[in-house]
Amino acid sequence: MAFDPLQERGIPLDEQLRDWRELNVTPIDPDHADPYTRCRIITMNGIETEAILFSHQLARHCPDIEAKRQLARVRYLEAQQQKVVNWLLPGVASVLETTIAYEQVAVDLTSWVARMEPDPYLRQAYQFGVLEDFDHLYRYANLYEMIEHRKAEKIVDNLTEVMPGRPTYMHHRDPVDNVREPYDRTTTEPLSRLHALTIMAAEQQTMNFYMNVGPMYMEPIARQLYQEIALIEEEHVTHYESLVDPGESWWEMLLNHEYNECYLYYSFMETESDPKVKNIWELHLSMELEQLRLAAEMFKRFDGRDPEQVLAPALPPPVTFEPNKAYVRDLIATQIDQTTLGTGYVREAHERFSKMQDAIMGGEQPPSERVIDDNRAVSGQEYRLETEGPHPADLQPTR
Ligand SMILES: [Fe+2]
Ligand SMILES: [Fe+2]
Ligand SMILES: [Fe+2]
Ligand SMILES: [Fe+2]
Repeated sequence: MAFDPLQERGIPLDEQLRDWRELNVTPIDPDHADPYTRCRIITMNGIETEAILFSHQLARHCPDIEAKRQLARVRYLEAQQQKVVNWLLPGVASVLETTIAYEQVAVDLTSWVARMEPDPYLRQAYQFGVLEDFDHLYRYANLYEMIEHRKAEKIVDNLTEVMPGRPTYMHHRDPVDNVREPYDRTTTEPLSRLHALTIMAAEQQTMNFYMNVGPMYMEPIARQLYQEIALIEEEHVTHYESLVDPGESWWEMLLNHEYNECYLYYSFMETESDPKVKNIWELHLSMELEQLRLAAEMFKRFDGRDPEQVLAPALPPPVTFEPNKAYVRDLIATQIDQTTLGTGYVREAHERFSKMQDAIMGGEQPPSERVIDDNRAVSGQEYRLETEGPHPADLQPTR
């Protein structure tokens, strides 16, 4: 049966506050947890973080003190949700292990979104981005083998392959070329809005994470690789946030945020393999339903429209973490040599791209290339996890 969050009753706001005992959740088992449970946790942490940051931005632009008070109440509960979600992580992982999990999220979440996205221009934006985070995974996996002497399959568990995508050094574009055209809020499919919000939030969390943890390693190559990839995540946030129509009012954006939280908690409740974690998705969904109802009231009051005019009549099929190996391999075979020019995509290294490349490389090999050479020197060979046969580039007929 179709699930319409606008018709469902949630937990009243007064009953959503949790005490220390309830906030102190039992983390997932570091050795036996499903890697996709960890991916769902990381995704929801990014979503809750975006809910908090967005609400702060809205509050800073809101002159109505009553509305501001309600935003503060809901935001405090979002902050509790974020704590519960992120505290499901067990605490034994190194920074690099968490990093590898973040890139696995980027690969399999963005691939899913690309596969489901109805709008071809938006789909292209996700396909373009996924080949880059896929390559980040490979670079970090090599750093991990080199400095922690472990293999990334311990983390990604054969669900996601680890091998070159679009080479990381090719991701350094002139910032101007990272701005895409937005969807049109008056004609877009409701699903497209949700996709854009989800990937924007996930990439924003990755950007924030690398900005903060990058200097936590002492090894120069690690510090340098985090600097390089953190700058690319800045590009990715620019790329994905520009897909959202800036003509949406603040209250429409709030409505979309709450609706998307409902969609993702519902999705993960439906697909979760760990019963204890599933309970949390279910509880948080019940909270979000009420938060959505309040956002819908604010939308009616300040925007003057009906929520039904902008939201879908029911939730789309659940967002699912599953392997996307064939999909990613197909993108590698067909889109590896793309870059952006203005709001579109091209295959040649145009003038602005080359200029940026020269400026940032400064005549030196970038950290993302050196890390592979360095690991070969230490481990005897570079690290790859090619579960489906040789790399697609090696299968291409030679021209
Ligand atoms: Fe939330
Ligand atoms: Fe990445
Ligand atoms: Fe990214
Ligand atoms: Fe919420």
